[in-house]
Amino acid sequence: MTETTTDTAKIPKDIAEAVMLPASYSEEQKRTYPALAWLRANNPFGLAEIEGYDPTWLATKHADILEIERNPKIFSSGNADPFLVDKAGREYLKTANNGARTQDTLAYMDAPEHTKIKNVTSGWFMPANVRKREEAIRQLARTSVDKLLAGEREVDIVKDFSLYYPLRVIMTLFGVPPEDEPMMLNLTQTLFGTTDEDSKRDDVEDGEGASMKAWKATLQDFFRYFNELSADRRKNPTDDLASIIANAKVDGEHLPESFVNGYYVAIATAGHDTTSSTISGAIEQFARHPEQLDAVRADPSLIPGVVDEALRWVSPVKHFFRIVTEDTEFRGRKLSAGDGVMLLYPSANRDEEVFERPNEFDITRKPNKHLAFGFGPHQCIGQHVAKLEMRILLEELLPRLAKVELLGEPQFVAANFLSGPKSLPVRIMPV
Ligand code: HEM
Repeated sequence: MTETTTDTAKIPKDIAEAVMLPASYSEEQKRTYPALAWLRANNPFGLAEIEGYDPTWLATKHADILEIERNPKIFSSGNADPFLVDKAGREYLKTANNGARTQDTLAYMDAPEHTKIKNVTSGWFMPANVRKREEAIRQLARTSVDKLLAGEREVDIVKDFSLYYPLRVIMTLFGVPPEDEPMMLNLTQTLFGTTDEDSKRDDVEDGEGASMKAWKATLQDFFRYFNELSADRRKNPTDDLASIIANAKVDGEHLPESFVNGYYVAIATAGHDTTSSTISGAIEQFARHPEQLDAVRADPSLIPGVVDEALRWVSPVKHFFRIVTEDTEFRGRKLSAGDGVMLLYPSANRDEEVFERPNEFDITRKPNKHLAFGFGPHQCIGQHVAKLEMRILLEELLPRLAKVELLGEPQFVAANFLSGPKSLPVRIMPV
């Protein structure tokens, strides 16, 4: 790569660190977003070279991310872990995985394998099928809102509210019993929060490669649980997602255990963490913009717009990663086979060329072509579930919520892949 690198491509170290290092995201408003704005203005597709990481291209423009995602032959998902891993982590994984990929799951695959495996559940995730669950999901939303409004007025909206409803929804659809939900939540927070003081494992020592050691150990914990779940659903199939995956046949054969586990982990983790963060972000913005809360309370047809604007605003998936498969040119830069590219969705979602007033939260924004769910063949399979459950929650909550006030600033998880607020103290005022 180095012989193809020109000095104009190089990104200043402080900017690169603000975008790449997990710790920066604990101050994402102060550090990461300004760095992304700088990159869009000054070096929209540049090369970051910081200590401990291989040189990495940072894609910050909406149009560039679309183009990269449209071209999986050149920008592959199947050649490395689909998120940024430091050098020590890569070395650790190489040995720990015996050269194989870390997980047999969609985000690690290219076509034709990806297409076959995605098709196992793509029908289930279609809007028409997901809508059949609307009444069951509404019941969960009501229970969650009842609990919030019956309790204390001063709450931490993340820890006391937002974390639980998306967890209940996805575990109900998936087929994990309620008594196991706290364990699923804990494992998810440990998986995505390997770099955060509050969620990292205490059985993995700090130091080189620690984050990937913790990642791998947490995957093993998930797999132990899921081995039993899939065995049970093969014997006693139900209409839940766990049964569909456990009993699916691809090319006439059941999926190997590692593929079933890979699917289960993706659904059991990506399925709620992201949605919780988006709900917390929406509530924070209603506290900051009470007039927008009044507007949507007066006109509930604005609720789908709230969902999209919260997705744009929060962008709970901070990036996915691609590997260049052959020497190529992109945005005037020379890329070499093996180079890594970070697709920075939060940056696409504040791109001045696509969004007017991108740094304003506006529930009436139209159109709202955010990329919070990505794009192309890997676009989020759970997007219709996520949108439906958020719409239903807001339909149940907003008519009963007169006002919400911030009692402090939000705190954010120190993680650069999936992350969002971990604490948000508010006062809620029911109608
Ligand atoms: C606010 C909620 C969510 C957001 C913002 C989100 C975002 C994303 C993004 C950005 C991707 C990668 C897209 C790409 O590479 O172009 C993705 C993939 C994925 N998401 Fe979601 N997601 C959400 C909810 C869910 C839910 C509810 C589920 C499951 C029930 C889910 C399961 C998955 C899976 C399995 C993939 C991998 C798809 C593939 O590689 O083909 N996500 N999601």
